[in-house]
Amino acid sequence: MNYLSINEIDNLSEWVKEAIDLKNNPLKHQGLGKNKTIGLLFFNNSLRTRLSTQKAAINLGMDPIVMNFGSEGWALEFEDGTVMDQGKSEHVKEAAQVISQFCDVIAIRAFASLTDKEKDLAEEVLAAFVKYATVPIVNMESSVGHPLQALADAITMEEFKVSHRPKVVLSWAPHPKALPHAVANSFIEMMQKQDAEFVITHPKGYELNPEIVKDSIVEYSQEKAFENADFIYTKNWSSFNDYGKVISQDNSWMITSDKMEKTNDAKFMHCLPVRRNVVVTDEVLDSENSIVIQQANNRTYSAQVVLKRILEE
Ligand code: CP
Repeated sequence: MNYLSINEIDNLSEWVKEAIDLKNNPLKHQGLGKNKTIGLLFFNNSLRTRLSTQKAAINLGMDPIVMNFGSEGWALEFEDGTVMDQGKSEHVKEAAQVISQFCDVIAIRAFASLTDKEKDLAEEVLAAFVKYATVPIVNMESSVGHPLQALADAITMEEFKVSHRPKVVLSWAPHPKALPHAVANSFIEMMQKQDAEFVITHPKGYELNPEIVKDSIVEYSQEKAFENADFIYTKNWSSFNDYGKVISQDNSWMITSDKMEKTNDAKFMHCLPVRRNVVVTDEVLDSENSIVIQQANNRTYSAQVVLKRILEE
């Protein structure tokens, strides 16, 4: 079993329930991963994913080994049939097979380039490891998705929801840098598996991949979208159509207390890291309704339920 996208989840509520059970008794399955090794390969920076996935593995009795490919590994070639006379020292074909001999599970973080849409949509790095590795692969944020984050988001909403069918708003917010679409994509896919009123709001020009958005509601008025919301999930992303470009940094989209007052006492969520007073004001982020720290904590249990299921298989 691989965990490449949120669509690997057959029954979201069962996975969420299992994750909450693990949270209540995290060391219950410590024998499951005994003498098993997970290799965490990072082509990009991380705080939460790196530590929570290690913690999840340790809770299951696994031994994690971590490699920062971006700064420590040989630069990898992903194209087949290339004459490797330039900067790349090793082909992923050998690298993935070699790592598979050291590890029982391989987890990979490889962000979108935001320059080559075709390669990003084809999940160049993740797909190459799936092709050449001989052990299960876990996506720790790829060019298209961040399914460990989305599962943690589902766990968090289950813990904090006050109505059976909450209104959940995914709101774009400004950011000075071009950011990938992965978190928003997986959040949307996860919400499509939930019984909730789900609304996406962003300025015109920030439409996400229509193959992911499908028939989810898009409301261009942030103010209107926030009305009666139970959860405000905020994330910046760059343009998908004008691929990887920051086409506006409209500060009027920042999440403020005035906007949160329009909601149904909504909880504020963000995957972190977040830029204070750019994406969201201090007042909102430090408020009692902000559940970003609890949300980050659930990263351990989303990773743990995924690893548990892989080990059981
Ligand atoms: N949310 C998240 O994936 O955080 P990191 O980038 O710090 O891992």
